[in-house]
Amino acid sequence: MTAPAPDRAAFVLTRRRAAALALLLPCGLARAQNSADDQQPAKPLDVPYVPTPMAVVNKMLDLGRVRGGDLLYDLGCGDGRIVVTAAKERGARGVGIDIDPRRIAEAQVRARDAGVEDRVDFRVGDLFETDFSQATVVTLYLLPRINQQLRPQLWRQLRLGTRVVSHAFDMGDDWPPEQVENLRGSTVYAWTIRQAQKNAARS
Ligand SMILES: C[S@@+](CC[C@H](N)C(=O)[O-])C[C@H]1O[C@@H](n2cnc3c(N)ncnc32)[C@H](O)[C@@H]1O
Repeated sequence: MTAPAPDRAAFVLTRRRAAALALLLPCGLARAQNSADDQQPAKPLDVPYVPTPMAVVNKMLDLGRVRGGDLLYDLGCGDGRIVVTAAKERGARGVGIDIDPRRIAEAQVRARDAGVEDRVDFRVGDLFETDFSQATVVTLYLLPRINQQLRPQLWRQLRLGTRVVSHAFDMGDDWPPEQVENLRGSTVYAWTIRQAQKNAARS
């Protein structure tokens, strides 16, 4: 695993960038951003915020074979870059879930700026309490422990053929990836939900 793990330094940098972003926004949007800045997540983050580099976002969408007709869920969506890119450049629809209201406010601004707000939905929520069963593609940039905690939920909820793509971290020995690609120091893993996973979820 060569990609850097989300860390506190990057989290601090991102807060600065979010503050700079608010200055650049038109008044109404800046007010929305500021009010979101006042809100704290309902529980401590399971994973700190570190955005996926755009080149890696595109690699994730390639490995997920994302195209028109897909419904992509990004669990822990940060500033919404994966969902917005899937909508704008691949014609998909998307849902982003993040426990941090500040990230959801940023994602909504990003969707508006990209002109895809009618094809995406960003919601404040805990990924462990989310129904993502309608997804055809799920993307993740979490941590090894959180991926493994989420694995039974992915197997239970997702339909046969759904693609799962993870930046930086795999799913442990019980679910080897079908594809692994490296790009500029980052690793991307891809899986497909098959009958074996549905059987394992039932046992
Ligand atoms: C490493 S960032 C990834 C952001 C985005 N997916 C990307 O790749 O650019 C992880 C995100 O997960 C969010 N997060 C952490 N714990 C969460 C939870 N329990 N439910 C939903 N989101 C969570 C954080 O707020 C953060 O935005």
